Amino acid sequence: MATFARVLVVDFGAQYAQLIARRVREAHIYSEIVSHDLSPEELREKSPAAIILSGGPASVYVEGAPRMRDETIAAILELGVPTLGICYGQQLLAQALGGTVDNGEIAEYGRTALTTTEDRGVLLDGTPIEQQVWMSHRDAVTAVPEGFVVTASTQAAPCAVFEDTERRIFGVQYHPEVSHTPHGQDVLKSFLYDGAGILPDWTPLNIIDELVAKIREQVGDRPVLCGLSGGVDSSVAAALVHRAVGDQLTCVFVDHGLMRHDEGAQVDATFRDHFHVDLVHLKVADRFFDKLAGVSDPETKRKIIGEQFIRVFEEAAHEIYDDKPGGKYLVQGTLYPDVIESGSSTAATIKSHHNVGGLPDDLDFDLVEPLRALFKDEVRVIGAELGLPEDMVQRQPFPGPGLAVRIVGDITRERVDLVRAADRIVLQELKAAGLERVLWQSFAALLTVRSVGVQGDARTYGHPIVLRAVTSEDAMTADWARIPYDVLERISSRVINEVDGVNRVVLDITSKPPGTIEWE
Ligand code: XMP
Repeated sequence: MATFARVLVVDFGAQYAQLIARRVREAHIYSEIVSHDLSPEELREKSPAAIILSGGPASVYVEGAPRMRDETIAAILELGVPTLGICYGQQLLAQALGGTVDNGEIAEYGRTALTTTEDRGVLLDGTPIEQQVWMSHRDAVTAVPEGFVVTASTQAAPCAVFEDTERRIFGVQYHPEVSHTPHGQDVLKSFLYDGAGILPDWTPLNIIDELVAKIREQVGDRPVLCGLSGGVDSSVAAALVHRAVGDQLTCVFVDHGLMRHDEGAQVDATFRDHFHVDLVHLKVADRFFDKLAGVSDPETKRKIIGEQFIRVFEEAAHEIYDDKPGGKYLVQGTLYPDVIESGSSTAATIKSHHNVGGLPDDLDFDLVEPLRALFKDEVRVIGAELGLPEDMVQRQPFPGPGLAVRIVGDITRERVDLVRAADRIVLQELKAAGLERVLWQSFAALLTVRSVGVQGDARTYGHPIVLRAVTSEDAMTADWARIPYDVLERISSRVINEVDGVNRVVLDITSKPPGTIEWE
């Protein structure tokens, strides 16, 4: 992201770096996560407008605790890069600059009262004298380095906030990035805008301009191919590439028969009718159902679907490219968290788990990954800005193998139809209750058991539907959603009344771990 001011968030191994990077982006400034092992050369090359040292799991005293190289710290100081240390990062700064960090007798975890000095300095300007902050520490800075002033303290942290506005170095013992610190985002903004003097230029329109220019530069006048899944990421990536190179783009939508209700029609309406994208809609459910017949092992199902998907895509790519000369480009909706998780900022390795919508390495394409620097919420904002329908950009994540991972046992057309019909009702009712977007995912799953019921005067022997609804930040962990009883009641009675063969609805109240979000 060459044209944007860049803030580096140094990762010391705790889970906070990603959150801090997101908060910086929310302040409309581009941020990037870098390893604590950053070399002075890398630092210079990235030419950051500011640096944030994140929290870490270790104590600064522990042998082998993640540290920055001395020469990198020296380079930061020499270059005069404005720096904010958070928690462990604050202690590291204090230690490196000649302050004292003590192994505190009192630990502070969770909500803690912070008292500021009369003059709140740059960081705390505009925030109350008494405020609540989120703490997670035992060690604390007990003496600040020369040139620093303390602007706030807590019971166990006498130097909870300090700053040297001359050198533009700041430190906070608490976590401003978490929502439990009410004035946290104000403090981050004060650092970025006032402490570091950065202008907020990371806005949707600027981002689109930059990405469009990069796509044009990469693909020139070559044809570009994109596999659309109906999901947010591939849709936004396709819309961006279309904005950049217009009808050089061909989209392929592989309809494997395991989609949600109306998904194919929505993709057609958006891309073919609205954007006038060259869209190949392959209705290939038969080959998927043939291959899946009699298979009930979850992993085998996934493999079959993945393989079929690739074969179909290869055939389509072959047809599209056969008579077109030149390089081949393939759009992928890789996001920044995928890049971070792959442990490298240069290679996009998508978890195999999530690769069903992706393609094999030996397919001879150069990847176009316009969303590589973006978080999911940014992708949604950009999608809306590009004119994608609200329903498409705000939709919940949907797994590549589709409804197949929500059907325990055999996959048949009848069973897929049944779960799809139930799923549609679940989403309709949650949407009507205003819950669709509060939930990470919500859907119906079908099991292999049957149970006895009575409907009208007749005894039934039908299928139970499992209602699964979870809240989550990133799908790595999840909690089962506390849906109001009246909404549950409407879902239950509609599913039983409207979906033939279903006579019972049960609620899944398992968090992840120990459960997974999907059933298969
Ligand atoms: P689990 O079930 O492992 O799912 O808790 C975590 C997230 O990943 C999605 N998921 C998949 N996505 N291919 C995908 O593209 C898959 O095979 C797959 N399995 C699970 C799931 O919907 C959830 O968001």
